[in-house]
Amino acid sequence: MPPRPRVLGGGMTSRVVQYRRFGGPEVLEVTEREDPVPGAGQVRLAVRAAAVNPLDWKLRLGAMAKGDAPPEPRVPGFDVAGVVEAVGEGVTAFAVGDEVAGRSTGGAYAEKALADARALVAKPTAVSWETAASLPVVTTTAYRVLDLLGLGEGDHTGTTLVVDGASGGVGVYAVQLAVARGATVVGTAGPAHQEDVRALGATPVVYGDGLVDRVRAVAPQGVDVALETAGKGALRDLVELTGSPDKVITIADYPGSQELGVVFSSGGDPDEEARALTDALARVADGRYRTTAVVTYALDEAGRAQEDNQHGRVSGKLVLVP
Ligand SMILES: NC(=O)c1ccc[n+]([C@@H]2O[C@H](COP(=O)([O-])OP(=O)(O)OC[C@H]3O[C@@H](n4cnc5c(N)ncnc54)[C@H](OP(=O)(O)O)[C@@H]3O)[C@@H](O)[C@H]2O)c1
Repeated sequence: MPPRPRVLGGGMTSRVVQYRRFGGPEVLEVTEREDPVPGAGQVRLAVRAAAVNPLDWKLRLGAMAKGDAPPEPRVPGFDVAGVVEAVGEGVTAFAVGDEVAGRSTGGAYAEKALADARALVAKPTAVSWETAASLPVVTTTAYRVLDLLGLGEGDHTGTTLVVDGASGGVGVYAVQLAVARGATVVGTAGPAHQEDVRALGATPVVYGDGLVDRVRAVAPQGVDVALETAGKGALRDLVELTGSPDKVITIADYPGSQELGVVFSSGGDPDEEARALTDALARVADGRYRTTAVVTYALDEAGRAQEDNQHGRVSGKLVLVP
């Protein structure tokens, strides 16, 4: 790659992926910008890896916005792992040179990204950059929704949970955490991922029509609670299996949640998320968690990575490596 100019207006510059209007992957552009300056409570990271999540392309499509453009150019990406290279006022938890993972503020698809210090945790050296970047959104979501389902810390032997989308980013950690807490787990996945789900400690069933009967066949004791992570129309079946909308949570089917009276969970408490991510990284580092395969892309392949995620073309976690 030819050398790039490093000075625009006096500061150092670096590459970033951004979009100025909503739309397909073609709205993503790679551009050079001055390195962002961390505000109070923030750090700037030299990004080593940034993961792709479905929310990234949903936001790019403008699904949750009015109009045809964001108010300012927007940089996609929440999940980030990198090295602290500048600290803002009041930051005491991290120093320059620390290796961290967590959620960025203002976009992670970049060579340099900002993050609130409280949204970051230390990255164990045993965990690769790519894997560390793949964990924040999916693991903190998994921990939060298990708490909401009454499967928080403690022994849940005797409780049966169904995870719809058990082979997905959130699903694999929800399954493993619930199993570690003693629950019996039935996980739905496509035909190609049945053995992957079994390896996580769950009983796999194929998703789609007839789900209620297939789950009952492998869980004759009954289903206590259910988690819907795929947004593909299984919510009604999960209510039928548990007997009540109160025993089901969805993170992906907002219209279905409104129709059926199921809780739609989004967002979380930053301190709880930091605790969850720290625990997840420790379990990955010592082998208690199996991780999803990681597929890497360059920054200028961000559009292809988002398309691959949206259309389920590539299994595992998709990670940009700047
Ligand atoms: N509300 C929140 O806080 C929150 C947080 C994180 C994610 N999310 C949302 O949760 C969803 C999942 O995210 P993710 O990162 O886990 O996605 P992902 O890694 O792309 O996984 C999606 C999973 O859905 C499965 N799937 C495909 N068709 C299905 C069907 N008909 N029935 C059941 N499962 C099906 C796929 O299984 P196969 O590959 O085996 O076919 C795949 O494992 C996204 O919509 C995302 O936006 C919400």
